[in-house]
Amino acid sequence: MLKGTLSYPIRLLLIAIALVSIQAMAADPSASRPDQDEIIHQLWTASPSLPMETRERPTEEQEVILLGRMASERLVRTLGGQMKAHLQESGPAGALDFCAANAQKLTTQVNRDLPEGVRVKRISLRYRDPIDAPTQDEAKVLKALHLLKDVGGILPNHVLQKTGSHSYKFYKPIVINKGVCLNCHGNIKRMKPGVKNALARFYPGDQATGYSMGDLRGAVVVTIRRK
Ligand code: HEC
Repeated sequence: MLKGTLSYPIRLLLIAIALVSIQAMAADPSASRPDQDEIIHQLWTASPSLPMETRERPTEEQEVILLGRMASERLVRTLGGQMKAHLQESGPAGALDFCAANAQKLTTQVNRDLPEGVRVKRISLRYRDPIDAPTQDEAKVLKALHLLKDVGGILPNHVLQKTGSHSYKFYKPIVINKGVCLNCHGNIKRMKPGVKNALARFYPGDQATGYSMGDLRGAVVVTIRRK
């Protein structure tokens, strides 16, 4: 029917418009990003600990915590999963090579799948990769967490910092909580030669050794802008 009613040039034009819009969708990186509000709604309505009547509408702070938890878990799970697989496959030196080449790429990938206005990264006062150096305000939060730990305080699950009228930073402390971390962050004298060599090669300014079990290593930071 349609075929008979549209002239050839018009049909060509319609096909061209369709092709251009498909290309525009593919070129727009935000087109494939999930929507912040949609994710918040899903996480919020799925929170089992909330009584039904309070689930109706989260406060902005609660929304930010949901997004922060989701984003930090994704980064930790992605990096941790890859690390574990490479440790099993090729030992600490091989896993270190892999991390040196891929930790930042994996972080970029996780960020690509997060909603617009949500970004995640790792920071430390004694960073290995200079990209993980904290900003001034982030360093203050890390110092506060170290002070808290020094006086026997129990670290919070997260810290929320308000950075603007609708902007926040969500910090999740990272602790050396597994013996396996010490392969690459422990006493340098006890490290395998392969690990030591790779550290010297990839990270000449490395500050991330000399840790013990239970030490605060840094934090995952999620930067969140609402509205
Ligand atoms: C196989 C070696 C290896 C192991 C095991 C390892 N890491 Fe790392 N870690 C690295 C490397 C390499 C980097 C730098 C990655 C980069 O360039 O982004 C790093 C970076 C980090 C950072 C980011 C801050 C910084 O210094 O750049 C944190 C936080 C961290 N590691 C925590 C841990 C914790 C906690 C564990 C144990 C669960 C662990 N690591 C186990 C090699 C390792």
